[in-house]
Amino acid sequence: MSPSPIALDFNEANSSEIFAQRLPQSKDKALSPILAVVVEHLHEIIKELRPTPSDWRKVIDFLTEVGHACDERRQEWVLLSDVFGASALIEEINSRRPKGATPNTVRGPFFRADVPELPLGSTISLDGIGERLDVSGRVQDLDGHPIASAEIVTWQANAQGFYENQQPDLQPEFNLRGIFRADENGHFYYRTIKPAGYGVPDDGPVGRLLRQAGYPLRRPAHLHFMIKAPGFETITTHLYDSSDQHLGEDAIFGVKPELVREFERVSTDSAPSWRLEFTFVMARAKRGVEG
Ligand SMILES: [Fe+2]
Repeated sequence: MSPSPIALDFNEANSSEIFAQRLPQSKDKALSPILAVVVEHLHEIIKELRPTPSDWRKVIDFLTEVGHACDERRQEWVLLSDVFGASALIEEINSRRPKGATPNTVRGPFFRADVPELPLGSTISLDGIGERLDVSGRVQDLDGHPIASAEIVTWQANAQGFYENQQPDLQPEFNLRGIFRADENGHFYYRTIKPAGYGVPDDGPVGRLLRQAGYPLRRPAHLHFMIKAPGFETITTHLYDSSDQHLGEDAIFGVKPELVREFERVSTDSAPSWRLEFTFVMARAKRGVEG
């Protein structure tokens, strides 16, 4: 049987159509429509920007470099997804919550899953460097009932704006990371240090690209949280320092008004310390999905 004539005539006008025509032969019926959309938009970009083969080679080289920049401590692909707003948009689409529930934001590239659980009241500052910050709060449902034993995972940058996995030679492992379990009244409390804002890493291909474009790379000072409890949607979110000057230009689009909080200064002597309180409000998981 001879091939259909249109399949031999790949051109600018019908390129994505030809790709889509071959897809019904695909064994994976769910994958086919996704590939059709991805390729259609890719061809649209190419038709609009009209790169030369040499331009396209630079794109391939960039993506190759992004892959090579990833290792067990660094995730350059997540950074690219974050700074292009893809991660924030996916959260927006997938994590719409009832009014009053704590919103989700992006997880960011510095999360580690293998963090030790600590007793309530412990400090997560393993090197003791920075201004003391006491964090406390409550985990509750939309009706205000406490969620006992909710798991609170937290991670943050140090007073210079670096995470421990960015500075494995300078910071102790698991510095400024911890997992806590709320008490029977949903309360939690721990000690840490006041984090600084930071620039997203600009020593890799993603930072270099955006710097070249003159794009802001700052992230305002924040703490990261993930709150988990059986039967509830997991909350992945941030709390932001309301005094930070860069709240309006977060490089990864994570700032929401409900998540901006005043870090209250509780001492006036030469060793300032700070206090932060927050109530996390969890929504019931739909169809038993908790993630
Ligand atoms: Fe962060």
